[in-house]
Amino acid sequence: MHEVFPELTEDVIGRMKNADPRLREVMTLLIRHLHAFVREAALTHDEWRVAIDFLTRTGQICSDSRQEFILLSDILGVSMLVDAINNEAGEGITDSTVLGPFYTGPQRELANGDSILLRDENGEPLVMRGRVANQNGVPIVGAKIEVWQTATNQLYDVQDPEQPRGHLRATFPSDANGQYEFRTVMPVSYPIPSDGPAGQLLERLGRHPFRPAHVHFMISAPGYRTLVTHLFLAGDKYLESDAVFGVKPSLIVKPKRDGDVQTIAYDFGLAPSPA
Ligand code: BEZ
Ligand code: FE
Repeated sequence: MHEVFPELTEDVIGRMKNADPRLREVMTLLIRHLHAFVREAALTHDEWRVAIDFLTRTGQICSDSRQEFILLSDILGVSMLVDAINNEAGEGITDSTVLGPFYTGPQRELANGDSILLRDENGEPLVMRGRVANQNGVPIVGAKIEVWQTATNQLYDVQDPEQPRGHLRATFPSDANGQYEFRTVMPVSYPIPSDGPAGQLLERLGRHPFRPAHVHFMISAPGYRTLVTHLFLAGDKYLESDAVFGVKPSLIVKPKRDGDVQTIAYDFGLAPSPA
């Protein structure tokens, strides 16, 4: 097929000779794919203007507490692709998934068995417990286990002025047997922020903004690759259509009733740090 203006692509790429080698490699690929996309789609001026306006609005809505570009990357599957490239799965290693925009840095440190609630929630009490080990099942002592989730009103503390800061998020150490345990409430499914360009795009594409109910985990220990993941509740109606493509079958858990409380038991396996 006749390619429109091929020498332009070569000219743009040829002018990067003095760039840092990795930057040149990445930008060369970007230019080739971007030009190929524009040719194949035969973009009109109007469509290009719509795209520029969309990206402009995406930038304009960003703030210290809102990252619309990450949201865009998430809903287009790019975040999960970067995650898959950088977190190779393996026997005894827990699957990773998206970090999301609601991790807020250092959190309250609590003792095993404590509750992560700072106010009452109208939800079913849940105990989460298990063990952190290496890929051969050897317990990791003193791993840092950071957890966070929404309240039952579908909002994270940082999205909701009514919630005390730090509600439903905390950090636990794994104990001398690699074990962790905390009390919380059953997570609920919730919509990602959909009042900006990412939400408008979802709507135009006929997609919903919901994520299935989950609890976030970030688990780190010296000598190990930091694990960023979630545990999802079995039976959630959005498991097959997560707005950000984060669900992996190994991360779906079914709570069990233990006396009068629901319990989720899940063991995590960490990969060694890359050399
Ligand atoms: C989250 O699970 O917190 C999340 C992930 C991606 C986009 C929005 C929210
Ligand atoms: Fe979440």
